[in-house]
Amino acid sequence: MGKILILPGDGIGKEITGESLKIINYFKENINIDIEIEKDLFGGVSIDKNGEPLTRSVLDKAMDSDAVLLGAVGGPKWENIDHNLKPEKGLLMLRKELETFANLRPGKVFQALIDASSLKKEVVKNTDILVVRELTGGIYFGEPRYLKKINEKKVGVNTLVYDEDEIRRVAQVAFEIARKRKKKVTSLDKANVLEVMQLWRDVVSEVHETKFKDVELEHLYIDNAAMQIIKRPSTFDVILAGNLFGDIISDEIAELIGSLGMLPSASLGVNKAIYEPAGGSAPDIAGQNTANPIGSIMSLAMLFKYSLNLDNIHDLIETSISITLDDGIRTNDINKDGKAKMVVSCNQMGDEILKKIDEIKSKFI
Ligand code: IPM
Ligand code: MG
Repeated sequence: MGKILILPGDGIGKEITGESLKIINYFKENINIDIEIEKDLFGGVSIDKNGEPLTRSVLDKAMDSDAVLLGAVGGPKWENIDHNLKPEKGLLMLRKELETFANLRPGKVFQALIDASSLKKEVVKNTDILVVRELTGGIYFGEPRYLKKINEKKVGVNTLVYDEDEIRRVAQVAFEIARKRKKKVTSLDKANVLEVMQLWRDVVSEVHETKFKDVELEHLYIDNAAMQIIKRPSTFDVILAGNLFGDIISDEIAELIGSLGMLPSASLGVNKAIYEPAGGSAPDIAGQNTANPIGSIMSLAMLFKYSLNLDNIHDLIETSISITLDDGIRTNDINKDGKAKMVVSCNQMGDEILKKIDEIKSKFI
């Protein structure tokens, strides 16, 4: 029914995807979901073994899969190598090759974790934002790009470029999703300064006018948005942004909901998809079995929903996570208030969530 390629990558990637794999195996054994799993090297570990972060053979396997479940890439070991060989480059190539242009990053506050946010409870309460970030264009990929010496002076250049089609297709994704949520899209740009962002605003407005008049559209400049999101997070629904602005704003939202380790993501293309937590490789805690696997497990939940059309499994996993948190079970990163009933390892968190899945599954399946 589905072919999944697991790329654990670097740092805590291996630990957290290990917990997601446990859950996949549970579904395979207990409810007969037909999933084929493959695993391979990606990022820094692939550089160490094969000299490049994404080999042709791994890319071919990704192309041949219904979905890729990714852990994290990068770490201090590979920070000083050539830009084109960095682990991050592998991730960017994978996104580009699979053309996963719409990156969905939900930031929903779990009631049980409301104290873990650095904002006041009253402000964070009821926050449920979905960032739709353009992922295969913009300044990340624009040409020319270089770092070189011109007349004895070092110069760095990157190019922020979008054409109308790139903007239109991601805007449509944002509006379609908003239609199934609270029917509001906030589009972020810098149209007061940048021509390309004027185009962004114009195209988003055009998509709205022609097809999505039933959805409310708000345009905000990125600087103002950074402030408004902290001030009134619960008034946002879908936030649409280009590659760089979306990258920045999704970290802001992660902190707002309590932990970067909680934030999943789905990167969707036409019939390819990559699922990965937004939290990064966290080299400082890698190998210690203390990382929070929830971002990866929630990414897996999104995989069931968007790639395998199993919305019920998505809901089952999400509810099981909620109950686990309600029970006061926390990894270190979400125990900032010291109120956990039980502080658990990465491994134990996976086991606890699996236990809940097993307990409540008959309500969903
Ligand atoms: C993210 C990350 C990546 C990005 C890096 C690791 C290349 O920050 O997924 O948000 O900038 O897109
Ligand atoms: Mg980022």
